[in-house]
Amino acid sequence: MAKARTHFRCRSCGATAPKWVGQCPGCSEWSTLEEEGESSLSALSAAVLPPSRKPQPIAEVDPTEFTPRSTGVEELDRVLGGGLVPGSVTLLGGEPGIGKSTLLLQVAAEVAAAGRKVLYVSGEESPQQIRLRAERLGALHPDLFLAAEVILPQVVGAIDTVEPDLVVIDSIQTLVHPDLSSAPGSVAQVRDCSHRLVTEAKSRGCAVVMVGHVTKEGGLAGPRILEHAVDTVLSFEGDRHHALRFLRVVKHRFGSTLELGLFEMGERGLRGVPDPSELFLADRRRGIPGSIVVPVIEGNRPLLVELQVLTALSSLPSPRRSVTGLESNRLAVLLAVLEQRVGIPCSSADVYALVVGGVRVAEPGTDLALGLATVSSLVGATLPPDLVACGEVGLGGELRQVPHTARRLTEAARLGFKRAVVPFSAPAPPEGIELIRVGTLTDAVARLGLGEPRSDRAMRVVR
Ligand code: TYD
Ligand code: MG
Repeated sequence: MAKARTHFRCRSCGATAPKWVGQCPGCSEWSTLEEEGESSLSALSAAVLPPSRKPQPIAEVDPTEFTPRSTGVEELDRVLGGGLVPGSVTLLGGEPGIGKSTLLLQVAAEVAAAGRKVLYVSGEESPQQIRLRAERLGALHPDLFLAAEVILPQVVGAIDTVEPDLVVIDSIQTLVHPDLSSAPGSVAQVRDCSHRLVTEAKSRGCAVVMVGHVTKEGGLAGPRILEHAVDTVLSFEGDRHHALRFLRVVKHRFGSTLELGLFEMGERGLRGVPDPSELFLADRRRGIPGSIVVPVIEGNRPLLVELQVLTALSSLPSPRRSVTGLESNRLAVLLAVLEQRVGIPCSSADVYALVVGGVRVAEPGTDLALGLATVSSLVGATLPPDLVACGEVGLGGELRQVPHTARRLTEAARLGFKRAVVPFSAPAPPEGIELIRVGTLTDAVARLGLGEPRSDRAMRVVR
C-alpha cells in the first residue's frame, strides 16, 4: 500500500508547506506549522457539500430567509442586529474564564424559555457540572438538552434526536472527526468539524453558536480558516479582575460590525449593562488632581470613562511609565509633546495612567484628556468635576477633532456634565453643555488655569 503523503499546515493562516519549516511561508508566524495527513478530506468535503441551488434572479431571492430571531438576551441581540439568524453559524471567541460558557448557557436558557429547543454540546464540562451552573443561573428548562460529546458524528446524531432551533458547541476545539488522524484542536480538525457544522446549520435551518478559545497570542486557533467558514464572529473580552465584559462583533454577514454589548459578571451570571457611563462614574471621587472624564466611542456606543494620572518624582534614571487600559505609546507621545511644545518638564516624573473600571481605550480622542490629567497631577491642581475633554493631540501640540464629537458631547450632557474642552473645529454643542474651544494643548492648559505649579511637591517635578 502506498504510504499516505503528509504535508504541513499553518495553525494560524492555513498555508501549506511540503516540509516542516520554523517560519510559516504564508503569514511569517514562527512555530505554527503542524503535520497533517492526506486525510479523507476530499471524500469528506464531498459528503458535506450543501445541495446545489439553481441560479435565480436577484429580486426573486427571499430576503425573509435571514430574519434574525431574538435570543432573549438584550445585549446579544443588540450586537447581532436583532438576534440569531436561523441557519447561521456564529463563533464566540474569548480567553478562558472570561464567561463564554456562562453567556451561552444563559442564551440557551432564554431561547428554551421562549419555547424553542436548544442543544448544548459540551466537550469541556460534564452534564452534572453544567446542571449545577444552570441551577445557579435559573436555566433549568425542559427544552434545554445537554450532550457531553466530542465525536462529531455523535454530535450530529444528537442534533438528529433533539431537532433543536439552536445548537451550542462548547468548544469547537474539543470536537474530533474520527476520520482524521490529527489531534483535537488542530487546524484540520477545527476546519473540518466547523465545515460540517456549517452544513448542518444550513441544511436544517438551525442556528449554531460555537465557542472558540483564544490562544495565548490572542488569536483563535486557526482563526482565518474559522472566520471564513462562519457567518458571524463575536469576541468576548474584559479584564478578569473586573466585572465588566465587552461583546464585540468582528465579522457579521447579516449586519453592522459596529455594535457593542456590555455585561457585568455577577454571582448569578451575566447581566446586561444598558447604561455603562453611569456604572463607570458611580464611584468617582471629586477633588483629586489628575482625574478627568472623557467621552469615548466603543463600537457604536458613547461611553463616559474616568481617566486618572498620577505623577511622582522619580528616583530612577529612566522614570517609570505605566498604563492600564491605555496605549503606552500614546502616553509616551503626549509626555514628549508636553515637554517640547507646552514647555512642561516631565522627563523626571514617574507617570501612571489608567482608565477606571477595566475599560480599554485605544482611540486618539483621549489624548487631550490624558494631557490635561497629566498636567493636573504634575502641578497638583484639580480639574473641574463637571468638565469633560475630547480631542486628538498632534505632534505639534495642535488639537484635532475626532469622529462623533457631537454624540460624545450629548452623552456627557445627559450625565450632567456642564463644560467640554474641545478643538476649534468641534460642532455646536448639545443643550446644557458649554464648549471651551482651544487650538493647542498649551491653550487648553492655560484656559483651565493649570499653568502654575501649586504645591511644593509638584514643584520638584515641574521646575
Ligand atoms: P466561564 O463561562 O466558565 O468562562 P469560559 O467559558 O469563557 O472559560 O466563566 C468562568 C468564570 O465566571 C469563573 O471564573 C466564574 C465566573 N462566574 C461568575 O462569576 N458568576 C457566575 O454566575 C458564573 C456562572 C461564573
Ligand atoms: Mg467554557
